[in-house]
Amino acid sequence: MKGIILAGGRGERLFPITRAISKQLLPVYDKPMVFYPLCSLMRCGIREILVITRPDETARFRELLADGAQWGLEISYGTQDRPRGIAEAPIIAADFIGESRFALALGDNIFFGADFDRCLDTAISGHPGATVFLKDVGQPERYGVMSYDDRGLAERIVEKPAHPPSSHAVTGLYIYDTDAVGIAQSLAPSARGEIEITDVNNAFLSQGRLGAAVLPASVSWMDMGTPQGLLEASRAVAAEQEKLGVRIGVPEQVALRNKWIDAEQVLRIAEGYGENDYGRYLHDLVRGG
Ligand code: DAU
Repeated sequence: MKGIILAGGRGERLFPITRAISKQLLPVYDKPMVFYPLCSLMRCGIREILVITRPDETARFRELLADGAQWGLEISYGTQDRPRGIAEAPIIAADFIGESRFALALGDNIFFGADFDRCLDTAISGHPGATVFLKDVGQPERYGVMSYDDRGLAERIVEKPAHPPSSHAVTGLYIYDTDAVGIAQSLAPSARGEIEITDVNNAFLSQGRLGAAVLPASVSWMDMGTPQGLLEASRAVAAEQEKLGVRIGVPEQVALRNKWIDAEQVLRIAEGYGENDYGRYLHDLVRGG
């Protein structure tokens, strides 16, 4: 399976913070935002990853993530010159995807919680055609929302409904069969002028090929469109790390656990950070702290 991180867009709701830098490079507590979706894909067992950025930002992402070899990954880069919609990601990535299944992660979505791995495993082995992950939220009108029929079966996803049909928001991590590319290519732009990932998901749903996995309360999810969302995410990451004594969104940690790199490589990376906090954490990861 391959992976895509969509990290373009202008982040206008965060202006002036994002006037000179992509949102996905901003810090979420102690790491750049893009580390978190990167780790979500790595937790799916994905090693080949395409990062889609604004053309003027590729160099910066490359400086941060390089070719991924340091984490046992193959990272390549694609560009989106204008935010024409999330569903443009599989179109841009068509050559990269080839005949593979793939996961698409929005660059501003964070997931954490011990049960997340189990949810991913179940979704990946289930293989219904496409999978979305749903989360019970307080303000579903901000998201894509699942509606259910009388029997409680998934019926349709509605994008940012004024009157949400349920409290189940569609989160920004999607797993697709390769034909999602063709579906995305056939879409017309919505009223807001974007090709909608919700339309791709509804196409799978109407074919009876959409799995909808509801994330349990033990899995946290956040997206970071606003300054408040950014602050809350930083606070939540700090609190979770404090609680667990383990950090989240650390690619070295996931790569080591997946046996894609060894302890020596973690130490080599740690050395590059010198005596700073992240370097010490990596060191302690393999030497015990
Ligand atoms: O976060 C989950 C939600 O993401 C879903 O519930 C919605 O169904 C889905 O449409 C999407 O809604 P948003 O309004 O949050 O999407 P937004 O336009 O903020 O884009 C999400 C991220 O994707 C953001 O970091 C920028 C990036 N993006 C977005 C678009 C439209 C791109 O890189 N290119 C694009 O063309």
